[in-house]
Amino acid sequence: MKLAGNTVLVTGGASGIGLALAERFLKAGSTVIVCGRREDKLKEARQKHPGLHTRVCDVAQEAERLTLAEWATKEFPGLNVLVNNAGIQRRVNLVDEQEAWGKTQQEIAINLEAPIHLCSLFVPHLREQPTAAIVNVTSGLAFTPAVFAPVYCATKAALHSFTMSLRYLLSKTSVEVVEIVPPAVNTALGGTGLHTFGAPLDEFADSVMGRMDSGELEVGFGTSEVRRNASREENDAFFQEMNSRWA
Ligand SMILES: NC(=O)c1ccc[n+]([C@@H]2O[C@H](COP(=O)([O-])OP(=O)(O)OC[C@H]3O[C@@H](n4cnc5c(N)ncnc54)[C@H](OP(=O)(O)O)[C@@H]3O)[C@@H](O)[C@H]2O)c1
Repeated sequence: MKLAGNTVLVTGGASGIGLALAERFLKAGSTVIVCGRREDKLKEARQKHPGLHTRVCDVAQEAERLTLAEWATKEFPGLNVLVNNAGIQRRVNLVDEQEAWGKTQQEIAINLEAPIHLCSLFVPHLREQPTAAIVNVTSGLAFTPAVFAPVYCATKAALHSFTMSLRYLLSKTSVEVVEIVPPAVNTALGGTGLHTFGAPLDEFADSVMGRMDSGELEVGFGTSEVRRNASREENDAFFQEMNSRWA
C-alpha cells in the first residue's frame, strides 16, 4: 500500500506505535484521524501535529465502535485505510492469581473483539474506494507466546489468524490486508518502563512503513521478523528459551 494520498483512521493513535504510524502517514501526505480514550493525549497529539484529526473512542465498547464507524465514514467519505493498532498488555499469572474476569474480558475486547468488529464495520465502505487497506497490528508474541502475558499472546495469535483469513477473503477486491508484527518496541505498553529494552520507536516505524510502501503484506522487525519466519522447531526452542525463567 502507498503511504501518500490516503485518508487513514488509526485506533490508539495518540501515543506509542499508533502515533508513530500516524506521523508517517501525515508526512507522506495522507489525511489522518486518530482515536483513543484519553482526551489529554489526543490534545497533545493535535498540538504537535495541527493537521491531525482526533476522536475520543473506547474501542472496547461495541456502541462506541458503531458510533466511530458512522462518524468517520460520514465526516471522511474518502476514508480508505483502517489501522487497528489500539492494544493493551497485562502481565498476569493465571495459575496462581485469581482476578476479576472483567480484566481479562477487557483485554480480549480491546485486542481482538475490536479489530474484528471494526473490520466488519468498515469493509463495506472500504470496498467502495478505488484503493484501500486494513492494517492490523499483531505482535511477535503471536508466533511465540510469552507465558507472563498469556491472554495478550492469545489475542495476538487470534488476530494473526483472522488477518490471514481476511486477506484471502478480500483478495479479489480493492482492499489490501496488511499485518504489522512488532517485536518489543520502546513504548508505554503494559505500563511505563516495561518496554525500555525494546527497539527504538522511530527506527521500527520507519522500517515497517517503508516496507508497507513497497507492497509487503506482513511486516516484522528484528526479532519478530525472525519469529515470523521460524520453523515450528525453531519457535519451540525460542519458547523454551524465552520462558524458562517463569517456570
Ligand atoms: N510496544 C511493544 O513492545 C509492542 C510489541 C508488539 C505489539 N505491540 C502492539 O502495538 C500496538 C500499540 O501498542 P504500543 O506499544 O504503542 O502501546 P502504548 O504506548 O500503550 O499505546 C497504546 C495506545 O492504544 C490506545 N488504547 C488502548 N486501549 C484503547 C481502547 N480501549 N480504545 C482506544 N484506544 C485504546 C492508548 O490510548 P488510550 O489509553 O488513551 O486509550 C494508546 O494510545 C498494540 O496493539 C500492541 O499490542 C506493541
